[in-house]
Amino acid sequence: MVLVIDDEPGVRTSVRMVLDGVCEVLEASDGPAGIDIVRARDVDVCLLDVRLPGMEGIEVLDRLKRVDAGLEVVLVTAVRTVRTAVEAMKLGAYDYLTKPFAADDLRAIVNRALERRALHREVLYLRDELARHEGFDQLVGRSPAMRRVYELVRQIADTSATVLITGESGTGKEMIARAIHRQGIRRDRPFVAVNCAALPAELLESELFGHERGAFTGAHARKLGKFEVAHTGTLLLDEVGALRLDLQPKILRALQEREIERVGGGRAIRVDVRIIAATNADLRQAVMAGRFREDLFYRLHVVPIAVPPLRERREDVAPLARHFLAKYARQFGKPVTELSPGALDALERYHWPGNVRELENILARSVALASEPIVQLDQIPLDVALAPVETEDQLNLREARHEVERLLILRALDRARGNQTLAARLLGMHRNTLLVKLAQLGLRATEAGGAQSASSS
Ligand SMILES: Nc1ncnc2c1ncn2[C@@H]1O[C@H](COP(=O)(O)OP(=O)(O)OP(=O)(O)O)[C@@H](O)[C@H]1O
Ligand SMILES: [Mg+2]
Repeated sequence: MVLVIDDEPGVRTSVRMVLDGVCEVLEASDGPAGIDIVRARDVDVCLLDVRLPGMEGIEVLDRLKRVDAGLEVVLVTAVRTVRTAVEAMKLGAYDYLTKPFAADDLRAIVNRALERRALHREVLYLRDELARHEGFDQLVGRSPAMRRVYELVRQIADTSATVLITGESGTGKEMIARAIHRQGIRRDRPFVAVNCAALPAELLESELFGHERGAFTGAHARKLGKFEVAHTGTLLLDEVGALRLDLQPKILRALQEREIERVGGGRAIRVDVRIIAATNADLRQAVMAGRFREDLFYRLHVVPIAVPPLRERREDVAPLARHFLAKYARQFGKPVTELSPGALDALERYHWPGNVRELENILARSVALASEPIVQLDQIPLDVALAPVETEDQLNLREARHEVERLLILRALDRARGNQTLAARLLGMHRNTLLVKLAQLGLRATEAGGAQSASSS
């Protein structure tokens, strides 16, 4: 759709006639009317008279671009002045025509501009699609629990609402934070992460808010804090539960007033950042214990996202394991392609106290050690392979002792390559005691030997 903004009705009519059959043509006789049309309609190309009554063409151009940055504007001038042309290009005009123009020239220029606009739209669309795909493609696991998380992410990504991501260590909190950023309107802006637990409080303050030259010994030059670096983008406050009490009011102020002060600065600086906080600590409990300010908690707790532990979404274990297997096979350049059913079964039964990170580490190790294309059960560490499914909460001491004994005995047998005398010596017991233990634990010697022979191959 083309819009002609020109105060001469004759020019508008001739444009309409020349472009008849090429595209739809709308008309405006002055700048403000034209801007209104661009606001209301889907205009692709605008033919803009430089000399307009009231508002100058150059100013109209500037405003049109503010309404729609992708709009292609062709300036129409009666006299070809270099100054105007240069200025127009700087302001983003696509090209210009001198009056009176030949019909062919007009058609050619409008066609090119329309094409460019279409291309521009396509690029934007593709980039959008790509971002949306990337957003979740990196997140493996389609369990109902994770789908609910993704759904929530989708709903809030395009807002600037503060998000609080909670979950055990290694559940993927940082990945979710990045997905929120990538899917939202700020995706082309910076994503900055600060680990609040990694630095002592004095350093953390300058890391977050920056400092002026001479603010403290060692401050040789002004340094921008992460809040300023993340301006217009997203700031992840990781391990927010570790924030020391005296820093909390400053964070609160940044959230509430949207301004910060550099250390040694004394001047308020406006910042526009979307805050995502992440923690594996129970913030409510920290509030009750007086270690976390209640007002800050409520500021952060606008959109809470709880990432479920891996043991509560066991169906994600297999796809995650395959994902990491492929990742490390590529990284280590090893032709490892599969997990044996036994290995997969063991991984699915384990309770994963370290969640996805632990799974990733185990797969990295298995791939590194693998000598054949299929990762077998014996390449899975014993404590993972042997862990009972119902654990921790229900284990009483007796059962726990049995489990530990069982594990130690199997490991000793493993190390002794099935030699019971040697295994007994490693365990500091007589061979007969070992045989009794094996029987008590319901392990037949052959079974233990089997575990051993499997894990030493
Ligand atoms: N759904 C997932 N798909 C693929 N990789 C994942 C997924 N979840 C986590 N990971 C991987 O597991 C590791 C831990 O994830 P991440 O650092 O996001 O966890 P976290 O919850 O921030 O952990 P912590 O509390 O220890 O900081 C990373 O290497 C990440 O790439
Ligand atoms: Mg983390």
